[in-house]
Amino acid sequence: MTRLEGQVAVVTGGALGIGGGISRRLALAGAHVVLNDVDERAAREARHDISEQGGGCTVVVGDIRDPEVVARLRDAALAVADGRVDVLVNNVGDFRPAARSFLHSTEEQWQQLYELNLLHVFRVCHALLPAMVARRSGAVVNNATVEAFRGIPYAAPYAAFNAGVVAFTRSLAVDVARHGVRVNAIAPDLADTPQTPAELMLRGRDPELVRTWVPAGRFGRPDDYAAVVEFLASDDARFVTGHTIPVDGGTLAASGWYARADRKGWTNLPNEA
Ligand SMILES: NC(=O)c1ccc[n+]([C@@H]2O[C@H](COP(=O)([O-])OP(=O)(O)OC[C@H]3O[C@@H](n4cnc5c(N)ncnc54)[C@H](O)[C@@H]3O)[C@@H](O)[C@H]2O)c1
Repeated sequence: MTRLEGQVAVVTGGALGIGGGISRRLALAGAHVVLNDVDERAAREARHDISEQGGGCTVVVGDIRDPEVVARLRDAALAVADGRVDVLVNNVGDFRPAARSFLHSTEEQWQQLYELNLLHVFRVCHALLPAMVARRSGAVVNNATVEAFRGIPYAAPYAAFNAGVVAFTRSLAVDVARHGVRVNAIAPDLADTPQTPAELMLRGRDPELVRTWVPAGRFGRPDDYAAVVEFLASDDARFVTGHTIPVDGGTLAASGWYARADRKGWTNLPNEA
């Protein structure tokens, strides 16, 4: 697995969860990973794991919402190999702060969700795209969510900002295609990560019931998402740009249909076992 040999890959939120899977996988594929994370200890652990695998990793600790951190991330990336940046993964995002309903949400929460889910994506792209354009080569992969494509109670602003990520991905792809740069995204669902631990999603329910709501029958593991990111970042996806690929074990396709707990087919009726 050396599809990214000699490349420089920047990953935001690259220590834990899906981002942790992405940075480890891109390093295994041969890239030097420039890993940003706000959690210093987790970032150093990720770098340790990557070095143990024989990979290269530079850590930039800090909150990606801070423009000064974005500038440090850019400088660190440009310093790795004479200004070369091949891959940028904008992974940071969060559904929190969530509210009981949109009516209970506040303008301050909308602003936080905007900064966590969309604004830094613009900022990091703006900082790193010039390096890609200069070499007429590069791949950006953004991390959105399936909630950009379906309705989610409690989290309308989160869904809106992630729909923004999807729309930004599409339009930016058209904008920079002539410079040899591709822009795509993934839309995850139901990843077992620190943000959405499987245990919390199950809330004491029988794990056997996961098959009733995820057609693939299990929650996602970070590497399930990382594998798709690696594909989109690699030359195998050289003719793919502007798209968002759901990585969701089939939930979006099922949209509202649930396997019956008694294994007798499917239902789309509420509260039906
Ligand atoms: N978990 C899911 O099921 C799910 C579903 C849909 C979309 N997503 C999206 O996938 C992405 C990753 O989700 P996850 O569940 O792995 O998240 P997570 O919260 O488990 O991990 C996020 C990582 O980013 C770091 N981080 C958080 N805020 C940061 C900041 N401001 N600056 C720098 N680093 C920061 C954290 O320390 C951690 O290493 C997010 O964009 C999220 O919206 C996740």
